[in-house]
Amino acid sequence: MLPKTDWVRTRVMLDRRVEPFDWQRWFGRVAPRVLDLGCGNGLYLVSSALRRSTHDHLGVELVPPALRLASLRAGQRGLSHCKFAWGDATEFVVSRCPSASVDEVHLYHPQPYYDAAKLDRRQLAPHTLLAIWRVLVPGGLFVFQTDNPAYWKWTGEHAPQLFEWSEHAEPWPDAPAGRTLREIRARAQGLAIFRAVARRRELDAGEADARAARMSAPTFDANKFGAGRFRPGKRSARPRDR
Ligand SMILES: C[S@@+](CC[C@H](N)C(=O)[O-])C[C@H]1O[C@@H](n2cnc3c(N)ncnc32)[C@H](O)[C@@H]1O
Repeated sequence: MLPKTDWVRTRVMLDRRVEPFDWQRWFGRVAPRVLDLGCGNGLYLVSSALRRSTHDHLGVELVPPALRLASLRAGQRGLSHCKFAWGDATEFVVSRCPSASVDEVHLYHPQPYYDAAKLDRRQLAPHTLLAIWRVLVPGGLFVFQTDNPAYWKWTGEHAPQLFEWSEHAEPWPDAPAGRTLREIRARAQGLAIFRAVARRRELDAGEADARAARMSAPTFDANKFGAGRFRPGKRSARPRDR
């Protein structure tokens, strides 16, 4: 951590109006860009920014305390190329992020949502996969990770329509103990971690739209494959949606 006089501001304020996000204005340069959707406490982004000062990093997160911690971590290390915005990452990628503006989109452990009334909050759905495809530059990367087998199955069945999908079974070499807090916690609970590195397919926009239109909605039962350490059918033991 740097002396306090060297800390930098790392918060990005998203305009209330839905306007295209101006990467160059916020980062003051044109550089490869890394976007983390639902970045939690920023563990992955901060470590990536420490390794890659050549890249601009943006995390979007809904929960203010997690966002504050992420921002503080980056600021205390002087990482002006690692910034955090409070907001809905789905809305950001669907409506605010310009097309072909991002080199890497990362999504680690999106909440599975067990309650049927909350399924529409799932971060991955046909329209969000299409949005991730749209915001990536040609050849851009989509990195996805979950400890929920049903989420993994749905994503593995749908994302290959838009991305060349490649499973990454082993822990990440850059973070053998886990790239994110949720990965570290899930591994401590003995849960399997499912990781994929997916490269954007070169399709024309009409074909990408058509492929997304043929995808099914993510209405899977997140508990179907025994995710978590609870007994199916025992309601009180089901994981709660946060
Ligand atoms: C299980 S946590 C994982 C956090 C982090 N990615 C990790 O792996 O440790 C899911 C995170 O996604 C955030 N989240 C859920 N829906 C979101 C949305 N629509 N926009 C932004 N963040 C969201 C939650 O607040 C939470 O921090």
